[in-house]
Amino acid sequence: MRGSFNKIKMGTSKKAEIQVKFLDSKTGNPLGSGQDEYQSVIGEASQEESLLDFFVKRSVPINHSCGGMGTCGTCLIEVENEELLQEPNEIEMELKRDRGLDRHERLACQNYPINKLKIRIRI
Ligand code: FES
Repeated sequence: MRGSFNKIKMGTSKKAEIQVKFLDSKTGNPLGSGQDEYQSVIGEASQEESLLDFFVKRSVPINHSCGGMGTCGTCLIEVENEELLQEPNEIEMELKRDRGLDRHERLACQNYPINKLKIRIRI
């Protein structure tokens, strides 16, 4: 069963621009040219899809071994401005306890896309 999403008040659908930077999964170094630049991912966002769904639908590379069920932890992202997100749900809290994650580390499958998020993805 899919985990429960954090609830946000954002209406039915809004345009969201999310800034994404890719990091090497082993070294943590930025990938590609313009290494300090974030790339914009723009699209309609709603409570009908998770941040993971938003990325997958737009061919943004992101790991998601369990397909968004909240069990694998491979969709872990670093959110620079995590204060825009709701508090972590039970699934995220359990992962944070088990792995000792910090407050910037969140699961893409357990959160909604929100305009102006700045996210680092390890691939
Ligand atoms: S895709 Fe498995 S925990 Fe998010």
